[in-house]
Amino acid sequence: MTQDELKTQVGQAALQYVVPGEIVGVGTGSTVNKFIEALASMKASIKGAVSSSVASTEKLQALGIPVFDANEVTELSVYIDGADEIDGQGHMVKGGGAALTREKIVAALSKRFVCIADESKLVQALGAFPLPVEVIPMAAGRIARQFAVLGGTASLRQKDGKPLVTDNGQQILDVTGLRIADPLGFETEVSQWPGVVTVGVFAHQKAAVCLLGTASGVKTLTF
Ligand code: 5RP
Repeated sequence: MTQDELKTQVGQAALQYVVPGEIVGVGTGSTVNKFIEALASMKASIKGAVSSSVASTEKLQALGIPVFDANEVTELSVYIDGADEIDGQGHMVKGGGAALTREKIVAALSKRFVCIADESKLVQALGAFPLPVEVIPMAAGRIARQFAVLGGTASLRQKDGKPLVTDNGQQILDVTGLRIADPLGFETEVSQWPGVVTVGVFAHQKAAVCLLGTASGVKTLTF
């Protein structure tokens, strides 16, 4: 099975977690795009979605799924999103698609995070995937030096030869060389560095369930 087929499989499997009559939280990325396509098949039985990015909003709306502002809801039953890495406890690294800040906000609004991923994303310890960190541009240099103290190497994410600008008007540092042994402690520490908007470790907002696409079918991991 190709990686694309594994993503389609988990995108469809996630429909069982969508609560009829409610608003669902929707993440960002190629796996979530498969979920959004599947969600269109049951759009008549949901109220709509809260989206985590401009890209997902556009896709949801193009398929006729109403999109609500996050401030219009107090709580969501479920948030469906992908991950760049997920460990055996449901901690994740996210932000490969630069949407980590809004993803963390919608995850925090939700009772249950359902992660959808192909099996290449399951890791023993977080840190092999370059860690995305959304930063206020004037703090990027100082934050890069703070990561260097932890053994990391930070580089400013580029797009079309220029620093990428996020949906929130900020920039992304991608940090290699980190081994994140204590995801909760790491997220807590880095989140309070001045100029850090969001660190791409999701430990406070970890997954409750992971639907993992494998060659032998969808495996359900619960944490
Ligand atoms: C976007 C994300 C995505 O969930 C993550 O990058 C996984 O994406 P994909 O499903 O395309 O592999 O965090 O900011």
